[in-house]
Amino acid sequence: MSLQSHSLQSWSDLLDRWVNFEPKQVGSKYFQSEFSFPEDTIPRSHFPRQSIKDTGRATIMIRKPKGIDLDPKPLPIIKGVKDDPARAVLLARRPPGCILLGFGKCGTSALLEFLDLHPNIVTLDWETDYFCDRMYPKYDLQWYVKKMPPSLPHQITVEKSPCYIVEHDAHLRMRAMNSSLKLMVLVRDPIVRVLSEYGHYSATERYWGRIPTPLIDRITAKSKEEEFNEAQLLKIGNYFPHFEHLLNVFPRTQILVLDGDLLITDPLSQTRKVEDFLSLPHQITEEHIYFDKDKGFYCMISPETGERKCLGKSKGRQHDNLDDALKAKLSDFYRPYNKKLFELLGEKFDWL
Ligand code: A3P
Repeated sequence: MSLQSHSLQSWSDLLDRWVNFEPKQVGSKYFQSEFSFPEDTIPRSHFPRQSIKDTGRATIMIRKPKGIDLDPKPLPIIKGVKDDPARAVLLARRPPGCILLGFGKCGTSALLEFLDLHPNIVTLDWETDYFCDRMYPKYDLQWYVKKMPPSLPHQITVEKSPCYIVEHDAHLRMRAMNSSLKLMVLVRDPIVRVLSEYGHYSATERYWGRIPTPLIDRITAKSKEEEFNEAQLLKIGNYFPHFEHLLNVFPRTQILVLDGDLLITDPLSQTRKVEDFLSLPHQITEEHIYFDKDKGFYCMISPETGERKCLGKSKGRQHDNLDDALKAKLSDFYRPYNKKLFELLGEKFDWL
């Protein structure tokens, strides 16, 4: 979010307004003298992309914050601050108070773009993947905080990565960083999610001059053509095991589940939920969004500049049509998982 171009008259106006908007319970416990996991949280590996072996307990790498790990990182002097010392003092890179964990292809980029319209939310526009197996052993918490966008003390920093939900060690690592962290997870009809991810693969294949692999070949076992294979493409849409693990690590009250299908048709219904969850006033309104006929999706109007912006070409692709037989088969495949998920979350989505 460009703070320079904020519509308020001056930085002192801006700071005055924020004084009354102290978000509650967000990011208040970065330093914990000790931490422990709930007794029933045994890191196990029965899910794809989870790194702990069934036998291994102690192999998980968890980094406990110490020293100045999570202190706000002051910014180098940047253009324009000379005239406004208050800004120079308060702007810093801060650890996130809220993280969007996924699921991939459920609208994670769109949600972050919509949230960025809120004056009290600052979002990171790329994915550090810090808590994921690929990155965590290589980088420390100071590195992570330094990657966050500049923010003021009353703003909440939000970042996202789709691997945070499917790699279960990431849940434990996030908790070790901040047990009062707020988490958001977007879900959408798992069949539509398959089509979205398949569209992404196909676009990549076309980019490299190849003919896209038909969907049926990606999801059907070669040896037994009638059966679905073990592809991630299918498996990720079984959201249940990931929530089951997450709920062993964080309390339900710290987890907001959002509807990626509604995010497309009625984005404000979802941003309002986030505002409530983060105890922020409703400041993302009809004024800040419009339906772009060319894009076929809602897009954003910057409150600071009035500039209109849609997501890029890789978001909002046309999906292939599913033939009725495959659709029915996919519905049968996901139905039991969906049912278990709705029971676990105590929430129902419009997919069965
Ligand atoms: P498709 O490109 O398959 O339609 P993610 O950012 O998690 O990868 O999710 C991408 C999906 O976000 C897109 O999938 C699209 O359906 C969805 N989406 C939701 N709101 C959108 C918006 N306003 N603009 C573009 N895509 C949006």
